[in-house]
Parts: sequence; C-alpha cells; structure tokens
Amino acid sequence: MNKPSLYQAEIVGTGIYLPEKVLTNADLEKSLDTSDEWIFTRTGIQERRIAQKDESSSTLGAHAARNALIQAGMTPEELDLIIMCTSTPDVLYPSTACFVQKILAASKAAAYDISAVCSGFVFGLSIAEQYIKCGRYENIMVIGAEVNSRIMDWTDRTTCILFGDGAGAALLKRTERGETVGILSTHIYSDGNYTDTLMVPGGIGREPVNHEAVDSKMYCLKMSGQSTFKMAVKRMTEVSRECLAFNGLSTEDVDLVVPHQANRRIIETIAGKLEVSIDKFFINIHKYGNTSAASIPIALHEARESGKIQPGNLCLLTVLGAGLTWGAAAIRW
Ligand code: COA
Repeated sequence: MNKPSLYQAEIVGTGIYLPEKVLTNADLEKSLDTSDEWIFTRTGIQERRIAQKDESSSTLGAHAARNALIQAGMTPEELDLIIMCTSTPDVLYPSTACFVQKILAASKAAAYDISAVCSGFVFGLSIAEQYIKCGRYENIMVIGAEVNSRIMDWTDRTTCILFGDGAGAALLKRTERGETVGILSTHIYSDGNYTDTLMVPGGIGREPVNHEAVDSKMYCLKMSGQSTFKMAVKRMTEVSRECLAFNGLSTEDVDLVVPHQANRRIIETIAGKLEVSIDKFFINIHKYGNTSAASIPIALHEARESGKIQPGNLCLLTVLGAGLTWGAAAIRW
C-alpha cells in the first residue's frame, strides 16, 4: 500500500438523526423471554430507537446529511458525490442514495449505495478519501443509515435485542491544510468465507419472496453471536494496530477511539488487547444499540459535540461487520 497523493481529505461537518421512538429493555421484557439485566450485562445496551412507518434509511440519512451540511456551512448544491452506506435500503433499486439526493436537492451530486453492512461507513470513507486524494472530487457526503428494525425477527431474543435504527453523516472536503491533517489513512478488508456468520438469507435473488421464505422468516437477520464476537475482537484489534503502524503512530498517540458499537464487551476486550484505557473509547451503545453502518458516524458526531475531539487530536475508527468485512481509519482533526 503506497501513501497517496495529490490532495488531502478532511471532515468538515458531521450530523446525525435518530428516530424519536425509544424501545427500552423493559419494553422487550414484555414480549420476550429476556431481562433488562441480561441485555445490559451481556451487551451494554439499555435502549434503542425504532423508525416510524413513514421513515426509512433515505429519510433518516437525509436528515443526518442536512445537519452535517449546516455544521459545515455548506449547501447541497456544493456536493459532488453522495455515498450511502446501508444494508437496509429503501427498495431493491434505485439506490437509496438517489432518494437522498432528491430529498436534499443535491442536483450536482452523483449518488450510489455501498453494501458493507456494519463496516459500511468506514468503507464509504475509504472510497471518498480516494476520490478526494486523487483530485476527482472536492466535496463528498458519506452517510450511514439503517432501519434494522425492519429485518429483525422480534421473536428471536438472541438478535432483536441488539439492533436499532438511526443515521449519521460526515462531509468530506478537499483541504489545503497539508497532509498531516484529515483522513490519514483507511484500511478495509473482507473475508467471504464467513458469509454465513451474519446474514439476511431471503427475500431476494437466492431466495425470492414466497410463502415459504416469509413463513421461515428468511427476510430476517440470522447471526452466530459467539463467532461474530470472537472475529470482531480479533479483526478490529488487528486492523487498529495496522492502521497506526502505517502512519508511524502508536496507541499512545491516540486521543480517542471511536469503535463500532455492537457490544460493550467487544469494545472492552479490544481496549484490553490494545492496552488502551477504556476511557479513551467513545461508547454510546447504551442509547442506540447496534445501528450497523450508522453506528460509527453517530458516535463520531456525539464525540465531537461532547468536546471529546479537539483540533489536533488523533482519532481511530475501527469496525467489523457482516461479510465478514472490517476496517479502520486514522483521522487527525
Ligand atoms: N435474554 C436472555 N437470555 C438470552 C438472550 C436474551 N436476550 N439471548 C441469549 N440468551 C441465552 C442463551 O439462550 C444462552 O442460554 P443457555 O446457556 O441456556 O443456552 C445464554 O443466554 C448464553 O448465550 P450466549 O450466546 O453464550 O451469550 P453471549 O454471552 O455470547 O451473548 C450475544 C450473546 C449475541 C450478546 C454476543 O454473542 C454478541 O454480542 N455477539 C456479537 C454480536 C455482534 O456484534 N453482532 C454484530 C456484529 S456487526
């Protein structure tokens, strides 16, 4: 991997949007053989958000993107590209990004979706970074948005307690501030040998919608929890180390880690393996659960808003998702 490039990309605005409806662990206790105590101690989750009927990934994502534009003091017409990272698209096609482009009236922007599930935002960031570093585009909106509630089996206590809906966005801009600021590097990986670990098996090409698929809830997420847990710890630790080493940095240089919010115990185990204090990890999983591709941009925005990221700070993003896919990014603010 060679270090680019002609230009550097920096994040000039972030925004989020969370549906208003809150589903607490106590609410889940009413319909499932589970408890607030079990969910909180095993995952760190207390509540999650659920989209209303008239909300979808495009509407949540457009709200988040608009907030990022406002923060950056920019208009939708200035966008060159919208990259929508989602595993719960509005429809099979056209892309959810095109719906977002219409809502925003971002008339100049090309728009497309990418599918890397929970790793989506870091994959999207990596794509945006390349376009900006090679000089092709100047302003790119990367959005992570999900309505996970639509693909849950609400009778399966091993999965439905974990996930929530929401959206986060980051506006990347070509910067003249030199190559020591902004997105220092992104590192992305996939291993298709683990496609069965986390999957929505039905409802489309391989298993089209039919009565059998509906009856067996093939359109719902199926997960092997323990192997996902182990792979998340292994790959997120590994890629974090690689990302820092690539930039000639060590864990001591990191001011804040913004990890994918899948399970608090995964984050704590990674902190132990990296020998970085858990206080340096931003955690908001108690409020939102796992929002897949939206998880990192929501956390990144809340970390900035709470003052945990200051100019000059080094921030490390790290994630694992279905695929399996995983990645990391180093950002100097
Ligand atoms: N409430 C109460 N009991 C539950 C439960 C729930 N919601 N879900 C599972 N259990 C039970 C199991 O049935 C099992 O019972 P048994 O011992 O009688 O068989 C027991 O709790 C332990 O189950 P186990 O699967 O070993 O729990 P765990 O500690 O591994 O936690 C997960 C399960 C799913 C929380 C955990 O494996 C996990 O977070 N995995 C990673 C998931 C993830 O990150 N996915 C997304 C990646 S992007």
